[in-house]
Amino acid sequence: MKPSLLLAASAALLLSACSDDRPIVEASFDVIPCPQAIDTIPGRTDYILDRNTVIRYTPETSEMERHALFLQQYAEDILGYRIPVKPGIAIKPSSKNNGILLRLEKGDTQSEAYDLLVSTDQVWITSTGTAGIFYGIQTLRKALATTSQLKAQDSGAQTYCVSLPTVHITDAPRFAYRGMHLDVCRHFFPIDSVKTYIDMLALHNMNTFHWHLTDDQGWRIEIKQYPELTSIGSIRKGTMIARDFSSNDSIPYSGYFTQEEAREIVRYAAERHIEVIPEIEMPGHMQGALAAYPQLGCTGGPYDVIGWWGISDDVLCMGNPEVVKFCTNILDEIMDIFPSKYIHIGGDECPKVRWEKCPKCQAKVRELGLKKDKQFSAEQRLQSWFTRQIDDYLTAHGHTAIGWDEILEGGISDNAIVMSWRGTEGAIEAARQGHHSIMVPTAYFYFDYYQRKNREHEPLAIGGYVPIEKVYSFNPLPEVLTDEEKSYIWGVQANIWTEYIHTFNHVQYMALPRMAALAEVQWCQPEQKDYSRFFGQLGHLTSIYDLYGWRWSRQAYEEPMTDE
Ligand code: ACM
Ligand code: ZN
Repeated sequence: MKPSLLLAASAALLLSACSDDRPIVEASFDVIPCPQAIDTIPGRTDYILDRNTVIRYTPETSEMERHALFLQQYAEDILGYRIPVKPGIAIKPSSKNNGILLRLEKGDTQSEAYDLLVSTDQVWITSTGTAGIFYGIQTLRKALATTSQLKAQDSGAQTYCVSLPTVHITDAPRFAYRGMHLDVCRHFFPIDSVKTYIDMLALHNMNTFHWHLTDDQGWRIEIKQYPELTSIGSIRKGTMIARDFSSNDSIPYSGYFTQEEAREIVRYAAERHIEVIPEIEMPGHMQGALAAYPQLGCTGGPYDVIGWWGISDDVLCMGNPEVVKFCTNILDEIMDIFPSKYIHIGGDECPKVRWEKCPKCQAKVRELGLKKDKQFSAEQRLQSWFTRQIDDYLTAHGHTAIGWDEILEGGISDNAIVMSWRGTEGAIEAARQGHHSIMVPTAYFYFDYYQRKNREHEPLAIGGYVPIEKVYSFNPLPEVLTDEEKSYIWGVQANIWTEYIHTFNHVQYMALPRMAALAEVQWCQPEQKDYSRFFGQLGHLTSIYDLYGWRWSRQAYEEPMTDE
């Protein structure tokens, strides 16, 4: 059954009272992102979730226990009381209200898929993977939150019971890669904010956190072999004010993550089935590093960590034999901190002006026999040569490089995955060349862009116009590709660059609820996508944002998209 608006509208209905006289409210499974199939089981009495409910799990492992405890916490956050958690599932056929049962089963279905069955006496969440159990828990959590309206309306009802309609949900994601990016270089957000960001991803069934850790405006990850990357490279002397490129506030700005903190984020994310992909930019966007190690630039410096929003012409010198070693040494530590198979190596916006003039770079061009042709300059080929070294190194160490779509220029290296940001063309080209790609086109997924056409009351942003309806409308599989080529589109992501975003509160405002629209692009099948259905269900999700004090934009309600 297609989730209906009718069901959503009937959510939060006060039905009657449960055994101990608290009110009962009806929940709805019309959640975001939409489950693949929700079949109602007619003629059955609803499951009543109350203080008699117990969360049980099997097998009795610490991971399954953790998942049960997640559900316990989510339910308490919404309902105001704690449901007990007990190991093992022992169902007595005669017993009523056995509770919510999390069960990992053997099988060959994909580990992110799950099955959620609500009967009169039990709620079963079953999957072949703990990830699937986690997504089933997210769906149940969001169904409970559909009752939040009542809580808000009736402050007298401190706690209440929930009636869950008897349904059978079968669900699985459309795309394997479902990501969000965060730039912590232009502005820095401490570890607790990063954890909250991961909580936001988890609520939206996302499985990848792309962590942009190094840039011209600051190097933000500790590298033990090169301590000055953080002691010097993480500090800029001042920052431009608003959009005034001639200004500087002269206030030192700094911040970085220790390796221990980064490992803590990796653990926190992994517990929520989110992989952290670190991004270490190279060979451009490197002025933070050059400020610390100026001998690695073409001119030898001195360089300052940049205090304005833009791209430095100063990049790593390709003619310096130390440069590749410097990068691979850094990657050694990065691979040790981040277990992800995928390491993002940037590769975007690398100006070639220094290389064109640098005798060492030009000697390298000659040594490698690189020539300008109709398609690419010799310097683009020089970047491609560099990327190939790095790609080979990562591959030899069991990892795979991801780069922005510029890595196609000069010829893509053998194993790299393309992140297509300057439109969808990079992904199309990559797919045609048999490389996996991720869709992050600016026009749909740059969440640092304005959400409203009327900017009068909006916080200053970099520009652009990406309202939630636009995000929702994206088709990740371009019609120009064959079915075989489409299979190389690995997934979809949105980016949050933080030049104009100083606080985490503001990050949330830019992310939410556009992340909800992205989540449906990533998770839902194309025939399920329907903006009016999504819009009707958005209030359930934003009630969770409110519950946790997450800031979010009302653009969808107050300024729906006008035709361009
Ligand atoms: C990018 O926005 N420079 C990838
Ligand atoms: Zn050079």
